[in-house]
Amino acid sequence: MTDTETNKDNTFAVTTPLYYVNDLPHIGSAYTTMAADAIARFERLRGKSVLLITGTDEHGQKIQRTAENRGLNPQEHCDQVAAGFEELWQKLNIQYDRFSRTTSSRHQAIVNEFFQRVWENGDIYMGQQKGWYCVACEEFKEERELLSEHHCPLHPNLTTEWRDEQNYFFKLSKYQSQLEALYQERPDFIQPEIRRNEVLSFVKQGLQDFSISRVNLDWGFAIPVDPKHTIYVWFDALLGYVTALLDPDSEPTLENALSNWWPINLHLIGKDILRFHAVYWPAMLMSAGLPLVGHVFGHGFLTKDGQKMGKTLGNTINPIELVDRYSADAIRYYFLKEIEFGRDGDFSETRFVNILNADLANDLGNLLNRTLKMAYKYCDGRVPEVAIQEIAADNSLKAAGKELGSRVINAYESLAFSKACEDILTLIRASNKFVDEQAPWSLYKQGNTAAVAEVLYSVLESVRLSAYLLSPIIPSLSTDIYQQLGFSTDFNNLSLFKDSMTFSTHTAWGTLSPNQQLGEAKPIFAKLEQL
Ligand code: MSP
Repeated sequence: MTDTETNKDNTFAVTTPLYYVNDLPHIGSAYTTMAADAIARFERLRGKSVLLITGTDEHGQKIQRTAENRGLNPQEHCDQVAAGFEELWQKLNIQYDRFSRTTSSRHQAIVNEFFQRVWENGDIYMGQQKGWYCVACEEFKEERELLSEHHCPLHPNLTTEWRDEQNYFFKLSKYQSQLEALYQERPDFIQPEIRRNEVLSFVKQGLQDFSISRVNLDWGFAIPVDPKHTIYVWFDALLGYVTALLDPDSEPTLENALSNWWPINLHLIGKDILRFHAVYWPAMLMSAGLPLVGHVFGHGFLTKDGQKMGKTLGNTINPIELVDRYSADAIRYYFLKEIEFGRDGDFSETRFVNILNADLANDLGNLLNRTLKMAYKYCDGRVPEVAIQEIAADNSLKAAGKELGSRVINAYESLAFSKACEDILTLIRASNKFVDEQAPWSLYKQGNTAAVAEVLYSVLESVRLSAYLLSPIIPSLSTDIYQQLGFSTDFNNLSLFKDSMTFSTHTAWGTLSPNQQLGEAKPIFAKLEQL
């Protein structure tokens, strides 16, 4: 992501959606969060100050009803489910900086102040709202969007509910041309291209004002100017991103919240909530006179064995069980490598096992293990002694390794996680081929120790570079690899090595120091059982 429009070169704030607490986290919420964590780790690795924001969206009819069905008061219910999210993020090794909960009193102060600004700007008025409301989406649906008998296309097993009530409205229509100008002037505001086009065609149909209050709903903040009304859950939730920016001990005012990290660089979301982030949200910010966020990226949807996931189909994936069975790195790797970020993607456990065995156990893990063992046998357990400058330019690993850093950096910058992994795997596969072709064991028998050293150095260095570049995705495995190569690095604790290691040195090929004592050779990833 470029920072030119925000002019905050050394900071990076990224958000996941604030998840509804109607249920425990599912794999869809885990997916966005893993991607956000990978990009946050990448930005930290290159030395930026990063704020990764996640959290929960706790108001609205959906949550109120879920709590009632469980016989709990809504706050109690929210506390339980929010804890479930935090537990999953720990298990998935997500290094979030802020966990924003929309039921906090600090958030209410921010929402009130923001509401007041928009109110004073004359963009809120009372009107009559008639229409079909989907509680699961927390959204009014146009008649033409609905399936037969007013079923919601996203929740076909649920009926929408007819509403005819007085609500406060936000003057979205007033921002039609300003929004169109935004999309023109900043073509990368909405990514990827396919989502941008969706938004452009939606906006072209003409924007309608939307209601921002509800009556007969207790679970939410009261409208400051008219407490009989409750603020619409989306108007409240989007502001959760702003509340999250407050330092823990600072007074909850908009000025404080916006003083350090605003504008947020990137909102990562799923494609179903694009309109809220790419249309409503910038219009709300324009109305409040605030700078707009950097980018909105809408990723695709996950399916299971080719089918839409859902409770009614009984094919949801429980992310906690998945991590317990396979480890955080395995899951992070599968979803970020196997699915092109932005497109829909599938989870199949057979495929999952195959990919992990092929890439992590065989290609990467075995490569490291057999090369380290040879380094112990032929080079005294040290990084082979070579004059790095003198390694010939036509050494295929050196040639490929020299190109890799910048390619992978570009891939991360454009959130192309699967491309980053593929590029790295190309070097790993080339390294395996190199060992087989060069046959260091034969060179050793021939007494050609200089050639042995060069081959082993080239491979170990390629593994090091690969591990470094993969560390935003598989931080614990990268740490194991670095430690076996003799570093004390912990990619889960960047503060430990920030000073001694710089991004540019470690993304270049030729960084491993000859003669460095190697660590113990241990398989980094045990082969998974075929299903
Ligand atoms: N509460 C709102 C977001 C408010 S942000 C200010 C919300 N929450 S949600 O829990 O329903 O959804 C959160 C995210 O999960 C969305 O980005 C959605 O796209 C994503 N996913 C839900 N199901 C999914 C899949 N099956 N696959 C991928 N992502 C999916 O919406």
